[in-house]
Amino acid sequence: MAERGAWKHRSLGRNIGPPLLLFAGLSAAVFTLAKLRLAEPAAPSAAVGGQIVLGDAYRGETIFLQTCATCHGPNATGGAGPRLRDARIPLTLVRDRIENGKGIMPPNLVSGQQEADVLAYVATLLESKNAG
Ligand code: HEC
Repeated sequence: MAERGAWKHRSLGRNIGPPLLLFAGLSAAVFTLAKLRLAEPAAPSAAVGGQIVLGDAYRGETIFLQTCATCHGPNATGGAGPRLRDARIPLTLVRDRIENGKGIMPPNLVSGQQEADVLAYVATLLESKNAG
């Protein structure tokens, strides 16, 4: 106890303490920022054809079942909407239908991250996935 008190009153400790704390704080902030930036590439996104952002296909399947399966079927084999499984359509068309709709298909049923996730899932269904 007596020793800790003595340390506290050393003038060196008083003078170096605040800048040291500031440095520690800044280092922590920089480290946190660096960690955030490092996490970016691991985020579920990838560009295909230079423009299309793919999200998480697993989440996309859930969204598909909730939002698209009514018309395209739970297995994407078609219904009121055309079959998407093994369909020979480019992913750019899928995105266009999602964003603009067509016929009875309403536009913007999904957007943002959900759209990216659905696109990733539909990409796993398309015949064109083998064609590159
Ligand atoms: C209300 C019913 C309905 C819902 C819900 C719906 N669609 Fe559709 N979709 C259609 C119909 C009908 C067409 C055909 C439009 C046309 O070409 O006239 C279509 C066309 C498409 C096409 C183009 C297929 C092709 O071969 O031309 C894609 C891709 C598609 N839909 C994806 C989706 C996705 C993904 C969702 C969910 C986000 C979705 N649709 C939700 C009815 C629906």
